[in-house]
Amino acid sequence: MENSLLTLHNRRILLGITGGIAAYKGAELTRRLQDQGADVRVIMTRSATEFITPLTMQALSKHPVHLDLHNPDTESVMGHIELARWADLVLIAPASANFLARLAHGHGDDLLTAVCLAAECPVAIAPAMNQAMWAKSPTQKNRALLVERGIHFLGPDSGIQACGEVGAGRLLDIEALLIGASNLFASGRLQGKTVLITAGPTREAIDPVRFISNHSSGKQGYALASAAVDAGARVILVSGPTALTAPERVDLVKVTSAQDMHEAVQARLPETDIMIGVAAVSDYRPRMVETQKIKKGQCGERTLTLELVENPDIIAEAAKHPNAPFTVGFAAETENLENYAKRKLLEKNLAMIVANNVANSQIGFNSDANATTIFWAGGEINIPMMSKRALSERLISIIADRIEAAS
Ligand code: C5P
Repeated sequence: MENSLLTLHNRRILLGITGGIAAYKGAELTRRLQDQGADVRVIMTRSATEFITPLTMQALSKHPVHLDLHNPDTESVMGHIELARWADLVLIAPASANFLARLAHGHGDDLLTAVCLAAECPVAIAPAMNQAMWAKSPTQKNRALLVERGIHFLGPDSGIQACGEVGAGRLLDIEALLIGASNLFASGRLQGKTVLITAGPTREAIDPVRFISNHSSGKQGYALASAAVDAGARVILVSGPTALTAPERVDLVKVTSAQDMHEAVQARLPETDIMIGVAAVSDYRPRMVETQKIKKGQCGERTLTLELVENPDIIAEAAKHPNAPFTVGFAAETENLENYAKRKLLEKNLAMIVANNVANSQIGFNSDANATTIFWAGGEINIPMMSKRALSERLISIIADRIEAAS
């Protein structure tokens, strides 16, 4: 059994399935939770039964599926209050926009909302809906209300949706849901720790309108920031320019150039316990930044030479600091992955390095998935391809394991 999922063993999980195209994933989720030793009972809303049959869920969970608040048969087997008391975790996956709205406004007129109201155990919600529905202000306000009431959100993930659109609103993949649910039981593995994450690209100005940069999207760094928050850490996210919205409860420090990022990191090192360098920092910057836009043919030549100087190595400098945090670097390579990553581990004096092969276009820079090998002095773990969010959950667990092992 995977170390990071151990906490699901013998847990009683009440899986709520609401009506949406992702409802069918409830079947796989049930199986995978059971594989980890969890006991799963299922509640379905009426509209969920339009997408997957209660019989399927009954056969998989090996228990009657609960559908109605006032059904004498199922209420006599286990009533809604008993169900709420039985559960160690109520996990609603997928949760529709309508369900979020009803829960946020305190409805209890069907079995699932009534159980959520009655539950004293943690309630976790994995939303799944069209990206526009997720982004709309009523949904976001409902989410904020639920978060304020201590309800946990797992996802949603971003990417291509069943409707063909692209954006945030996809159900987290099963692996990430398992790890997210498991982390709720292991909550606080990074409690009391401050995690500083660098993310995104840097921009190195050439003149007032041009810069040197790279294709980093910031997705992996932002996903790690969410996972670290979920593990109880205080998170400082030092981010270069990205199109992403920072996760909630993160202290966001926006920077542009590598030098800005370096200064922001150095200033916060005394309060940092763990630093994860995910940023794709430009190794060089122009020696001179022109104060006016460079004009074509300005020097009377058909060529233009830019002189570049080296930027500080932000993570290596952090690892050298007298109060160096537990430093985790990323190595994006196109060849000799293991050799280069191990060399960086040593040369930058890191505690751990996460190596990924960016020659494979399915993983790495702009993609939603990643496959990596993590190296540290005396150990390594190979992590197969999974979403950046699932990888983040794994990485946070592995970092917590290493810190615990060292103390
Ligand atoms: O040497 P390379 O750029 O491949 O190293 C990658 C790792 O080092 C990443 O963790 C990256 O965030 C960090 N880095 C840094 N400052 C630099 C260059 C890389 O923090 N100037």
